Amino acid sequence: MSERWSPSSWRNKPIQQVPAYEDAEHLAEVERQLSGFPPLVFAGEARKLKKHLAAVAAGEAFLLQGGDCAESFAEHSADTIRDFFRVFLQMAVVLTFAGSCPVVKVGRIAGQFAKPRSAPNEVVDGVELPSYRGDIVNDIAFTPQARRPDPHRQLMAYRQSAATLNLIRAFATGGYANLENAHRWMLGFVKDSPQSARYAELAERITDALDFMRAIGVSPESHQEMRTTDFFTSHEALLLGYEEALTRIDSTSGDPYATSGHMIWIGDRTRQPDHAHVEYARGIKNPIGLKCGPSLAPDELIRLIDILNPHDEPGRLTLICRFGADKVIDHLPGLIRAVKREGRTVVWSCDPMHGNTIKSPSGYKTRPFEQVMAEVRNFFAVHRAEGTHAGGVHLEMTGKNVTECTGGARALTDADLSDRYHTYCDPRLNADQALEIAFLTSELIKRERQGRERPQHEAAE
Ligand code: PEP
Ligand code: CO
Repeated sequence: MSERWSPSSWRNKPIQQVPAYEDAEHLAEVERQLSGFPPLVFAGEARKLKKHLAAVAAGEAFLLQGGDCAESFAEHSADTIRDFFRVFLQMAVVLTFAGSCPVVKVGRIAGQFAKPRSAPNEVVDGVELPSYRGDIVNDIAFTPQARRPDPHRQLMAYRQSAATLNLIRAFATGGYANLENAHRWMLGFVKDSPQSARYAELAERITDALDFMRAIGVSPESHQEMRTTDFFTSHEALLLGYEEALTRIDSTSGDPYATSGHMIWIGDRTRQPDHAHVEYARGIKNPIGLKCGPSLAPDELIRLIDILNPHDEPGRLTLICRFGADKVIDHLPGLIRAVKREGRTVVWSCDPMHGNTIKSPSGYKTRPFEQVMAEVRNFFAVHRAEGTHAGGVHLEMTGKNVTECTGGARALTDADLSDRYHTYCDPRLNADQALEIAFLTSELIKRERQGRERPQHEAAE
């Protein structure tokens, strides 16, 4: 791994999950065009996110990462972005208050278009076609024409990412992200929730805190921190030709950065240490994520950390654990102990979605809310036992009222799934379910905090 890195050195490595583009010249032309386009994010912003994540690694902050499994061209609208952003901010308020610590906000948005698939082809009614690999690669319709990988889609994904990011930046800095707004939306959720009694107390305490602050002259009008927020973007760096084309040398530091998003991650299917995706990620300076699934052994994790964060830079590496509600108890302690033994600094985050996907009796891919929450609980329990910081959650969610995951306070059933099942890939938590996760997680964060403040035997229940 001491070989020289360049934005294109991944091309000399074995690679998984590559689309079979038929027209190599067209692909090269698109990549050439992309390499001349403006960066979507700046190196300085990626460095700022890294600093925030370093605080998470130190146990002083919490990471909230979430968004669509796959963004789509069809669902690109101001409403969709606004609804997502609204729910995300409400979740952040709840988590911030419960943990009395900053929440680092990272969307799976403005670039989350490429999907790894378990099989290269899909068979429907005896017809076999290439799998859908995300809108940046091909179209979800089940026809030979639609499933053909089309390089032009990369330009569309770039432009959609730019437009999405533009609106998010306006929301984050233009007053919409105002803390009192987010709080008001959250009160609406609490009032309507079947679980409102459980959430009301925390909501009231936040109301009191905001009223008190206003009384002493601290309000969104007088304080910029209450009016604006830092919001970062992230996606899986799967389509490496696209990532390479958007890799730029930062003029202030001379370092290479992925400018397709602030944080990028390596998927569970493409984390082979000697393969292309790890090669690309090791050279760019952004914060990066690594999905850790049940097949990752502790010594392999250490090998990956050696490659991806050789200088143990805090905030550089987030381990996004996605084992499944029960498996997390078996797998996570070994990884935590290996990381502790080697003295490495990482952010531990919990993706409770990808290990809890099932096929419902009616045939939909779904995730039972209770299983999702069980993985989060078990993740916190393992960290409590190991004395480490449960640093964040990574969710597939939307601001819309979809019916893709079963359960939650409104007890969505298998029979409800067909009502509004809109996802292009994996089932997402809807707005209510996502906020419920935030409330329930806030109780766990609070408990972790209290456990740290009090001697161990007193904290035990
Ligand atoms: C995803 O995050 O959508 C995904 C494919 O995850 P994983 O790589 O963990 O399976
Ligand atoms: Co997914």
